[in-house]
Amino acid sequence: MTTGSGHPLRIALVCLGNICRSPMADVVLEKKLADAGLADEVHVDSAGTGDWHRGEPMDPRAAAILEEHGYDPTRHRAQQITSRWFDDHDLVLTMDGSNFDAVRALARTPRDRSKVQMFRSYDPVATPGDDEVPDPWYGGPSGFEHVLRLIERTSDAIVASAPRLVEELAR
Ligand code: 4NP
Repeated sequence: MTTGSGHPLRIALVCLGNICRSPMADVVLEKKLADAGLADEVHVDSAGTGDWHRGEPMDPRAAAILEEHGYDPTRHRAQQITSRWFDDHDLVLTMDGSNFDAVRALARTPRDRSKVQMFRSYDPVATPGDDEVPDPWYGGPSGFEHVLRLIERTSDAIVASAPRLVEELAR
């Protein structure tokens, strides 16, 4: 599968700190794409809207739950999203509504704005009142389990949608 646009489909995943939710989604989606043979067609990375954790590895609680479930959390280092991310990403998927508003505020053009969507807009069981990946930062381990379940289910749906997304990009 080629995109016809001369580059892979490039997805940015965005949360607040880039140490819990979006890096978990980055690692999970990347692995699921690789397992589906789509590693060359779809590229994924992640960022936070805030800069407090720039350069840091994943939160140890997020890393532990990923490792428990067979994922490798070790390569992540936190980055902060800027307007320039719109130049080299086709989709910018945000974890919650506050991240969505913050990323939309960075958009410079209608085209930039059209790239911003809620990550869980791909979740087949999301509803208008339940479309966020909640911030697990202040809670206990069960919050991270819940976040991983949401991320795995949504990532499966993104992988299933990948051929359509790549086709739309080529248009
Ligand atoms: P994340 O979680 O947005 O899922 O990475 C957070 C990480 C750090 C902070 C808040 C949320 N913080 O306030 O430093």
